[in-house]
Amino acid sequence: MTAIPNKVCITDLKNNVGKEVTLAGWLYNSRSSGKLQFLILRDGTGLCQCVVEKGKISDELFDKLEHLGQESSLTLTGTVRAEQRSVGGYELAVTGGEIISPAIDYPITPKSHGVDFLLKNRHLHLRSQRQWCIGKIRHTVIDAIRRFFNDNGFTLIDTPILTTIAGEDTQSLFEVDYFGQPLHLTQTGQLYLESAAMSFGKVYCFGPTFRAEKSKTRRHLTEFWMVEPEVAFADLNSLLELAENFVSFIVAQVLQNNKSQLETLGVNIPALEKIKPPFYRLTYTEAGNILTSQKAQDFLAAQLADFQKQKEQMETRLAELEKQSASGKLKQWQQDKIAAELIDLRSELVEVNTKIENNPKHAKLAAEFQWGKDLGGSDETIISQMHDKPVFVTHYPKEAKAFYMKTDRSNDKVVLNYDLLAPEGFGEIIGGSVREDDYNMLLKRMQEMGLKAESYNWYLDLRKYGSVPHGGFGLGVERTVAWLTNEKHIRQCIAFPRMMDKVII
Ligand code: 4AD
Ligand code: MG
Repeated sequence: MTAIPNKVCITDLKNNVGKEVTLAGWLYNSRSSGKLQFLILRDGTGLCQCVVEKGKISDELFDKLEHLGQESSLTLTGTVRAEQRSVGGYELAVTGGEIISPAIDYPITPKSHGVDFLLKNRHLHLRSQRQWCIGKIRHTVIDAIRRFFNDNGFTLIDTPILTTIAGEDTQSLFEVDYFGQPLHLTQTGQLYLESAAMSFGKVYCFGPTFRAEKSKTRRHLTEFWMVEPEVAFADLNSLLELAENFVSFIVAQVLQNNKSQLETLGVNIPALEKIKPPFYRLTYTEAGNILTSQKAQDFLAAQLADFQKQKEQMETRLAELEKQSASGKLKQWQQDKIAAELIDLRSELVEVNTKIENNPKHAKLAAEFQWGKDLGGSDETIISQMHDKPVFVTHYPKEAKAFYMKTDRSNDKVVLNYDLLAPEGFGEIIGGSVREDDYNMLLKRMQEMGLKAESYNWYLDLRKYGSVPHGGFGLGVERTVAWLTNEKHIRQCIAFPRMMDKVII
């Protein structure tokens, strides 16, 4: 790294008011009024408005800066001053600088672009404010995950990525040719983790997870990150408590470390401040009763009315902007601003129209809920939207769930499992259960589900040699980040997303 004298980060400007410092970064945006230039610099830690006054620097540099393209790399030297109205609260009164590498015709402009274009340009789009804020929050989430388990007596166990057995449904396995032997990419570390729990007591694994999901929804990736704790001598209640303490800790860490990113993203911070134990607890049967209730239908009808109102407001604004834009009386920067708002507005309109179209379908699906099937995505959305804090849904029908879940001994139609639904329609972020710890019951369940017991001999062994009640859960990082950043699609919550229909770079 070349050492730049007096270089400070934008986040450290607060400690340098009145001093002359140098910032090194990229040109995020600029505007000029002839004698004054306002350059917004980003350096990976934040944004800073740098004010360049003619006469305060050489004419040559002034001229170069005036024509410098977006995303050019440069250093700017100047005096730091507090300026409430400026982004980040500080400004640099520029006294010098150096262009490191000019960028010409950067493809992503401050105007909006379509989703496909941005995915194709993900290597550049990562520099956008939105992606940067999400990346910073994801970093905190991951740090909080490790901190929580490390500070609570859990031992990290790295489970394999190449696996011999299926942990979840066999439909979503990615097969790998391992020197002629078929292996799979891991769907879950859980089964391996169960064996480690019998050695260490409390363990967790954390890593990339793969599902060949033939699902193009906003909640599914084919490669995602999952953290899974597993605890010996645990029952359903203790696992629910662990999960709610864990999720509350993650939220608290994000609130503590990422306030400014949450604000930039327009996240409802007071709603996050409410995320404290205890969370709501519903059984699957109770959730079904809610879905088929008049209350749910009323809730959906009110939502539909709200969507229609939003649609009308958007259409009015759209007409207004189109009129302004056609007037021919605007300066270039005003035209650009309107063009950007129009693109955003049109895509929001498409979204609200989809919601209006889906609402009656979701209402119908909810009303037709039948005991026995897994909850659908729209069912989860409705339940979570009807609650202001996360909701545990427990005791699902045995048939809808994985072979390893322990049957409820007081009702053998259901298992001792739980999903945690994030509020405001974000849906399932955690899936977990108590594990079947009885050798014969587990064997029977595997046979019923058509699994080859020979492949699972080592897993069955755990029920032979000192079996204990135990269980755990898995939390999906991208879904959690999507909820905390109010991001609709989880593909935005990982730097280089992999989806069924799109692996772009
Ligand atoms: O509910 P799941 O399938 O549970 C398990 O894998 C258990 N073996 C975990 C355990 O008990 N140790 O997945 C857990 C979580 C989901 O709640 C979701 O957050 C995330 O993993 N997840 C996905 N995230 C993105 N894309 C997908 N295709 C996902 N599938 C699951
Ligand atoms: Mg699940």
